[in-house]
Amino acid sequence: MSSGRFIVLEGIDGSGTTTQARLLHERLQRAGRLRTRATCEPTTGPIGALIRHALQRRMVVNAEGGARAPDWKTMALLFAADRMDHNDALILPALARGEIVVSDRYSLSSLAYQSLTSDDPIGALPWLSAINSRAVRPDLTLVLDIDAALATKRRLARAGEPEIFEVDALQARLAERYLRAESLCPGDVIVHLDAAQSVEALSAQIWAVVQKVLPSDLSEAQ
Ligand code: TYD
Repeated sequence: MSSGRFIVLEGIDGSGTTTQARLLHERLQRAGRLRTRATCEPTTGPIGALIRHALQRRMVVNAEGGARAPDWKTMALLFAADRMDHNDALILPALARGEIVVSDRYSLSSLAYQSLTSDDPIGALPWLSAINSRAVRPDLTLVLDIDAALATKRRLARAGEPEIFEVDALQARLAERYLRAESLCPGDVIVHLDAAQSVEALSAQIWAVVQKVLPSDLSEAQ
């Protein structure tokens, strides 16, 4: 059996998933006994590139009434297709080699973001789960919970134009939905962490949680 582990970081925009995924990857590399892979969604592959264009309003649909971003169903299918490529090209081969894969976002993002941008945030969930049902489940999902106003402050400190989902009202609803992440993916191992604390303190907490899911020879060595 493979000794690989698949760890995902999730949260609203500005919760720190990218920073914490990087720090976790570096920490795992320092532990040094297993190969680790850092990755993200949207991916750096062709479908991920298309998604980033849509997020930045550079890919639009010429709908009646004018050009607009693709609707939530199209976005959901793009994210799911990107995820299948991600599984085939990187995640599954790395896990089969016994590596530790750390992903900045995964299917929980689709369940949260695409349901809340749909016309029926509860009714959309079964379809969103179905189109993601072939994606390998993570061994551990770390949800970085944060007050939406604080995350907005952090986002505003960054350079660049806001992406299509970086809207305050949506982010506040997403923060609530992430608090109840267990109901979105029953059966998954989910651990919530307080993302309002310092980067260093959160990173230390994440490392403590992650060690519990590592193969025993590695966690005992730390
Ligand atoms: P993000 O992590 O913010 O990427 P970047 O830091 O490069 O901007 O992710 C991009 C956005 O896509 C973010 O708002 C969350 C959203 N998203 C979804 O709506 N559904 C998904 O399935 C994924 C993976 C991301």
